[in-house]
Amino acid sequence: MRKTPKNMLRTLCLILLMLWTCPALAAQAETKEAILLVAFGTSVQKAQTSYANVEKQVRTAFPGKEIRWAWTANSLLNADPKSPRFSVQEALAKLATEGVRKVSILSLHVIPGSEYSNLARTARAFEGLPKGVEEIRLSQPLLYDTDSVSKVAQLLIQSAPKERKPDEALVFVGHGTHHTAGVYYPALQYYLHTRDKNVFVGTVEGSPDLEAVLKTLKANAIRKVWLAPLMTVAGDHAVNDLFGPEKDSWKQIFVANGMQVEIIGKGLGEYPILVEQWVQNLKSVVN
Ligand code: CO
Repeated sequence: MRKTPKNMLRTLCLILLMLWTCPALAAQAETKEAILLVAFGTSVQKAQTSYANVEKQVRTAFPGKEIRWAWTANSLLNADPKSPRFSVQEALAKLATEGVRKVSILSLHVIPGSEYSNLARTARAFEGLPKGVEEIRLSQPLLYDTDSVSKVAQLLIQSAPKERKPDEALVFVGHGTHHTAGVYYPALQYYLHTRDKNVFVGTVEGSPDLEAVLKTLKANAIRKVWLAPLMTVAGDHAVNDLFGPEKDSWKQIFVANGMQVEIIGKGLGEYPILVEQWVQNLKSVVN
């Protein structure tokens, strides 16, 4: 085509239009997306180190992205008037009124149990409402398929204290559930065992329970136990059920059975390599 002044003018106009609209569109698209970090919540101040660490790693992985929090434990939401906490519903409604149209949710759950199912249901209910969030994507929890269970087993063993000797047990205690997803605990036990026969999984409210773990420790003639929560935060269950001074805590039961106990008072959110797994799960829904 011959370059006439008219053609050149049209081309120039098009270029100017593109230059003007493209950055504007990009900026607009950026403000319309957000990441929502969802956890159970905790009343234990020190346990929030886990959440702070998760947020730090998510910010590093997604620089410049809008990041918000929501807690699923209703009883904790209005506990502290100085730092208001939002439920998932409140957080999504707030984002919608701010004009956010796409939300990626990071589930900080360990297994796809009832907490996770409720979160999925809420996300579906909020998606595509008029003037609301158009697209809501939910990441997988920490354990969700064979590969994730095997990988987490490897990372847990990698995170074991260097002072632990091979004949000393390492016991990870999860929350536990009566939901069908309770099978993830024995599944994790299997993959831990293939790597280290003295690493065990227990739960405070499901199976394997304290009695089952104690039986296994005795059968293996264990003299010393390293006790750690298999929970996102080392909150109330860790402080009381696992490490508490009451005679029915895991620590005291082991001590009463002649074992020496070392406490690992960290939530899973305090292990950077485990948080990286959650971040990977988030990455696969953000992009
Ligand atoms: Co509980």
